[in-house]
Amino acid sequence: MKVSLVSTPPAELPVDALAVAVSTGQRLAGSALELDRALGGVLSEMIASAEFRGRIHEVLPVPIRVKGGPRRVVLYGVGALPDLDGQRLRSAHHELIRASRTYGYKRIGLVRADPPLRMDSLKGVVEGCVMGTFERRSRQTGAQPERREIEELVLTGFGIGREHEVVAAQENGEATNRTREWQNAPPNELTPDALAQEAMRIAQRHGLEVEVLGPAELRAGGYNLLLGVASGSANPPRLVRVRYRGGQRPGLPAQPGAPVLALVGKGVTFDSGGISIKPAEHMSQMKGDMAGAAAVLSAIDVIASRKVPIDVMAIIAATENMPGPSAQRPGDVVVSADGKTVEIVNTDAEGRLVLADALTHALRNGATHIIDLATLTGAAKIAIGHAATAAVSNDDVFWGLVDRAAADAGDRVWRLPILADYRILLRSQIADLRNGEYGEAGSILGGMFIGEFAGGKPWAHLDIASSSWNTNTELTTVLRGPSGAGTRLCISLAELMSGAER
Ligand code: BES
Ligand code: MN
Ligand code: ZN
Repeated sequence: MKVSLVSTPPAELPVDALAVAVSTGQRLAGSALELDRALGGVLSEMIASAEFRGRIHEVLPVPIRVKGGPRRVVLYGVGALPDLDGQRLRSAHHELIRASRTYGYKRIGLVRADPPLRMDSLKGVVEGCVMGTFERRSRQTGAQPERREIEELVLTGFGIGREHEVVAAQENGEATNRTREWQNAPPNELTPDALAQEAMRIAQRHGLEVEVLGPAELRAGGYNLLLGVASGSANPPRLVRVRYRGGQRPGLPAQPGAPVLALVGKGVTFDSGGISIKPAEHMSQMKGDMAGAAAVLSAIDVIASRKVPIDVMAIIAATENMPGPSAQRPGDVVVSADGKTVEIVNTDAEGRLVLADALTHALRNGATHIIDLATLTGAAKIAIGHAATAAVSNDDVFWGLVDRAAADAGDRVWRLPILADYRILLRSQIADLRNGEYGEAGSILGGMFIGEFAGGKPWAHLDIASSSWNTNTELTTVLRGPSGAGTRLCISLAELMSGAER
């Protein structure tokens, strides 16, 4: 989809349809009202008659007659203005594009609301529209239905000379879609090694340093928590590190005190639960247990290609979690890479294990700030539902950045507290830590377990088990299926930190 900025009056745009945003309880104003008048009031009539209410995800094509101009206006709802945050803005535009594709439009002219809607940023509009072009890769054989794609999106009323913003937003939207594609990939295709190869492709494309550790190197480095999770699988684990040095001036020595941001992703390419096996129902959803890894890979791809001036590393702990004769057992005690002993009480709480070793790997490689993304706990869905990511952090300043990045990216997060009282629940009778059976506060304690391995550095943990995949068919205004959660947030975080923040 080609995206361009123009200052042409809407009715003169060479497009199939003009997209006009409507919010509930609001009349048309500005350029939309002018267009309505030129069309004899047909749009305001649809709104006055309540045939179109402007609810989020409502999309209605209206036939119009303009000589040599567009054949349709597509009214699309953005919901009530006070509710319109960055995530809903993207969701509304996602739906506009999805619906427009089914109507068969090839070229769309999007008319900026005037005055602009709350949160109506060029970035959010373009990101949402690009996300709406997402098409899952089909593995079906035989004749395929005709693909309906938008060829051109023309934006009017956003000002011109902002092409660089459009390009950046397109990249962000496409990166989100790449994460979604990886989430969807079947687990026999996207194995730990295949994930590592994706990382190597990204590193190669931008000339980045990349390191892939296999079982032998992991044993040498003492990454026993990752190895323990992997021990039931025929497909060997990979600990991948992609390093982007954007904060350093070429030819000059590394700046002391400059931040090195580590983006750490859970890359469990299939989570059967291991010996503590999951019930068969919905187990296939566990192909998406590498959503965190996918997000950090997509993010560093954009960060490197955009040359954001900061040092970033992406670390992914890639493995399967399978039962088998050599699988780890509930009751095993394993020594982590940083020397802590962990009692495995539930082999299905594998995410915190692989992330613990991944954080140690980040610290060994000079990380000063760490954010981890993981589909960690089913409890996140209970605590916050699919419309946001549940988070914990050990540092208010770093959290402030994460929170701002989330708002900038339209990628909702909500911070849960780390409560000192819960520390006792992490303890084991025979080891330093246990990996489950805490009895309550599942998402907080999952995060607190990982935080034990952050080496006191500023750290945030995003539990995207809720937000990465909306399975609730009744929750219709939140993207259905894989969402790419965390992808844009990581890009925004690197951009924010590359500014004044240290
Ligand atoms: N990958 C799952 C969490 C998950 C559940 C993600 C549903 C997406 C949808 C994770 O490895 C897991 O199994 N967590 C356990 C932890 C428990 C055993 C402490 C859980 O949430 O039940
Ligand atoms: Mn699990
Ligand atoms: Zn898992």
